Amino acid sequence: MVAARLRGTEACRDDTVPLRRSVASGGAAAPVLSRCRRAGRLLRAVVSGNERAVARACSLLRAGAACALRARLVVGPPSGGLLAWGSGGGALVLNGVMSGHSHGDIDWADRLTQLRMADALDAEALAPVARRLLGLVGERPAVVDVGCGAGGMSVLLARELARRGGGTLVLFDATPKLLVEAERAVAEVAGESVEVVSLLGDLTDPALAVPAADLVWASGVVHHVGDQQAALRTLAGLLRPGGVLAISEGGLEMRCLPWELGVGRPGLEQRLHAARASWFEAMRAGIPGSVAMPYGWPRALREAGLQDVESFGALIDHPMPGSDLLREYVVQRVGWFAESAGEWLDADDRAATATLTDPQSPHFLGRRDDVYLFGAKAIHCGRLR
Ligand SMILES: C[S@@+](CC[C@H](N)C(=O)[O-])C[C@H]1O[C@@H](n2cnc3c(N)ncnc32)[C@H](O)[C@@H]1O
Repeated sequence: MVAARLRGTEACRDDTVPLRRSVASGGAAAPVLSRCRRAGRLLRAVVSGNERAVARACSLLRAGAACALRARLVVGPPSGGLLAWGSGGGALVLNGVMSGHSHGDIDWADRLTQLRMADALDAEALAPVARRLLGLVGERPAVVDVGCGAGGMSVLLARELARRGGGTLVLFDATPKLLVEAERAVAEVAGESVEVVSLLGDLTDPALAVPAADLVWASGVVHHVGDQQAALRTLAGLLRPGGVLAISEGGLEMRCLPWELGVGRPGLEQRLHAARASWFEAMRAGIPGSVAMPYGWPRALREAGLQDVESFGALIDHPMPGSDLLREYVVQRVGWFAESAGEWLDADDRAATATLTDPQSPHFLGRRDDVYLFGAKAIHCGRLR
């Protein structure tokens, strides 16, 4: 039996149904489909099983959607995955999917906890960014958050859209687990006036199908694509005339540690950053089809055909002693640096990071009152004329 989890929002509660007897024959899935249709909300189906089972589920869903939703299923995923389509006839499903690993072979699903913590810590600084960017586009805009991750900025965009009278927010990511989390987080704030659509897909897919947008936001995703300039062209290509592409890339590395920690040599954080830079270089070089982009992001946006290009910063400032969340985030961050970039650290620094992230150690960062978070995100944007 092929099972699928059909999910709508608000008026449409979640249901897990046996597809064969439901969508196709108007069984248990039919009321879910029609509740979603009546509520005019997103319907999402997470399909699991082997390739044959998923193909079968896709065809059953296509049949169910055709009669109950009047939506058209465009493309099914090659193997298990998440299908999404909006109500009212707009039909969307994507594409070749990366199973949660980006082209640099990072397991994004594994990073959910850390992304969620960062989202919470960044929210105060990024809320004005969402406001500023939505101030650049017209009423009831269509917004796409590309590489939305756990949905930190998606939530801020949804809130701002709701405050301005609504619009459409498309969540787009290659990692199913993160997309589901983003969707959950957005559903809490979107309200009735914001239509939310989730799309699973890969930014580098030549058959990328995303609705035309007034604002495209892409934070921390373009640098995971081999040809960053081509990715920017793709993102610019999603814009309606007059639309704005905004990316968050670069900025000032977050600082979180005192210079002297009482363990290892002073200046550990600087060496962690240097190791991370080497990791980053290797990560970029290891992406298939990786090409150099030997100029800065504002020029890259102009090369992508955009005008009125500007850059600004968002300061992330959480002074010590900070919250429990901050301490937990710092422990995770230092652990992740040491794990991913450990080969570029010497044995003393590896030992120091192990001590600092060990809950049994008297030096454990999670119990210190002298950690903080201070840095800046750089945002670059341009308009399609
Ligand atoms: C560093 S996280 C950034 C998440 C979020 N935008 C933020 O700023 O916190 C990168 C995200 O991009 C997604 N991603 C990486 N490569 C992608 C690609 N080629 N297409 C679509 N999403 C991708 C990952 O799944 C992950 O959610």
